[in-house]
Amino acid sequence: MKREYRAGPILVVGNAVLDVILSVDHYPAEDEEMRANARRQAVGGNAANTAQVLAGLGHRVCLLATVAPDAEAQTLAAGLRAAGVDTRRLKHCRRGHTPLSYILLNTAHGTRTIVHHRDLDELAAEDFLALPLATYAWIHFEGRNAVELGEMLRHLRQMPYTGRVSLEIEKDRPGLEALMPLADLLLFSRAYAEARGHCSATSLLAAMGERLTGIAMTCTWGAAGAWACDAHGAIYHAPAQVPPRVVDSVGAGDVFNTGMIHALLAGRDLPAALTAATCLAGQKVGVVGLQGLTDPLNPPATAWHRRSAVRPQP
Ligand code: FRU
Repeated sequence: MKREYRAGPILVVGNAVLDVILSVDHYPAEDEEMRANARRQAVGGNAANTAQVLAGLGHRVCLLATVAPDAEAQTLAAGLRAAGVDTRRLKHCRRGHTPLSYILLNTAHGTRTIVHHRDLDELAAEDFLALPLATYAWIHFEGRNAVELGEMLRHLRQMPYTGRVSLEIEKDRPGLEALMPLADLLLFSRAYAEARGHCSATSLLAAMGERLTGIAMTCTWGAAGAWACDAHGAIYHAPAQVPPRVVDSVGAGDVFNTGMIHALLAGRDLPAALTAATCLAGQKVGVVGLQGLTDPLNPPATAWHRRSAVRPQP
């Protein structure tokens, strides 16, 4: 399964969503009426989040997602462009509405509760097949809609594609398991592991590693950090790099995935990529939104370093 590595643009395939995020100081009880401390609107969706952060790290990145024929879709496209994402491949649907997430960000615990509404066509395999696939150094897929996704992945594996393929498995959706052998990198979430009856990332990775030899995989586990399993079944752990204050955990998993892609594309090995990804995800939860994250492979000198460098000699 080892494939040749080369630099070039990245294609991200999945969802673009409008997130409406309300910060609250406690989680509401049912039928409670309460005030939010802050509200913001952002371009969200797992694929769109990953694309925005990749662009922020300096990659050329193109997003393939469906968009609705409404005003919110124009807001989404403008937001993506402002973040540096190539939106020319967005598929404009004739019907439906922009997918919307109402997100309650509980600042007391750093949790985010998402209520998602979707009334929009999914991507079709033909939308993907029409792209200049051989030109992408990396193609990242959000694991949804397994029928169409399966066609995309099988097509990719039948052509002489020399880039790498990652597949995010966030939810236990029907048909996804059969597609796992078609990826080079599988990015599992804790929610998926738990839905499959695993009580730790290592339990999931050990089970998957036995069945899927030759494929690298990761599993995030919140404050416990993240684990990876290499193509030979060796397991690595990187502790979470949590900032002093967790202010916004929306999209932290997507940012972790971005860190893996970024570091592996830069030629880092799996344990180094795992550390970089936890660093990037840690940075993310300490700031609001997705902008301005520092490259975890090339961090600027910390305030402490700068201070010590200029400290006058006694
Ligand atoms: C975070 C996120 C949000 C989005 C929701 C559902 O991971 O992508 O931005 O609204 O999940 O896709």
